[in-house]
Amino acid sequence: MAYAAGVDVGSTQTKAVVVDENGAIIGKAVIDTGANVVSAAEKAFLLALQAGGVLEEQVGYIVGTGYGRYRVTFGDSQVTEISCHARGAARMFPGSRTVLDMGGQDTKAIRVKPNGEVTDFCMNDKCAAGTGRFLEAAAFALSIPLGDLGDIALHADKPVSISTTCTVFAESEVLSWLGKGKKVEDILMGVHRSIASRSIGLLRRVGIVEQVTFTGGVTRNPAMVEVLNQALGLQMNVGEQAHFMGALGAALFALDHIADSRRPLGAKEA
Ligand SMILES: Nc1ncnc2c1ncn2[C@@H]1O[C@H](COP(=O)(O)OP(=O)(O)OP(=O)(O)O)[C@@H](O)[C@H]1O
Ligand SMILES: [Mg+2]
Repeated sequence: MAYAAGVDVGSTQTKAVVVDENGAIIGKAVIDTGANVVSAAEKAFLLALQAGGVLEEQVGYIVGTGYGRYRVTFGDSQVTEISCHARGAARMFPGSRTVLDMGGQDTKAIRVKPNGEVTDFCMNDKCAAGTGRFLEAAAFALSIPLGDLGDIALHADKPVSISTTCTVFAESEVLSWLGKGKKVEDILMGVHRSIASRSIGLLRRVGIVEQVTFTGGVTRNPAMVEVLNQALGLQMNVGEQAHFMGALGAALFALDHIADSRRPLGAKEA
């Protein structure tokens, strides 16, 4: 049995996925990227192998993706994260025509064909205001673990309106609302709404065509899923593996290489 792997070295977290010959996920792992990008890639890959009970020598091809894709020193080639998220999303939800990837540093709106090919995309320029980084700033300011933000925000009854569009000022705005006596849940819901409205701006630039599939680490935040669904007036696809869509897409590209190398010379693709 030949396996393939994808390693998505994101600005915040590194995800690795090992797939079998059919593209089914056999093992996966996610760790913080941290300062040592090369070792994060190695570690995530080894953990995914372990999780799947697969030996390194059984993996025929490895594709690196994400901002640190060239630091996957053991990788065979690299593919951009836009292509990988699109491919992963189309595999998990074949009806996907629009993909929203919300990560730690970047948010990307992608239009995709049924085969996972990208037709258009748009991302936040240099500014982290509509991304997980904005959530991290709010979590830090309020001393709340990142994983609890969404559940707390869902208890809001009078959400505040966050006016800052800059992550650098998010912390001081959050603290100033706190000083005015606003409840933490109302402040947090305001933060989620602010991020959602920026993401919807990106989505509109590529065109919102159903089905919409949500990918990246912020999918793990239930308030963000709810606020986006409400604002879009539809239910996005959010799979259990949504955080791993980029790594899955990379693993599927790796699988293509294995299949291509097995095809007899001169044979035409079906
Ligand atoms: N358990 C969790 N609960 C809530 N949010 C989470 C959780 N785990 C991760 N996140 C969110 O996901 C973000 C990281 O997502 P992801 O791994 O997709 O980013 P990345 O790929 O490293 O970044 P980028 O694509 O921007 O380079 C964090 O910033 C955080 O907001
Ligand atoms: Mg990413």
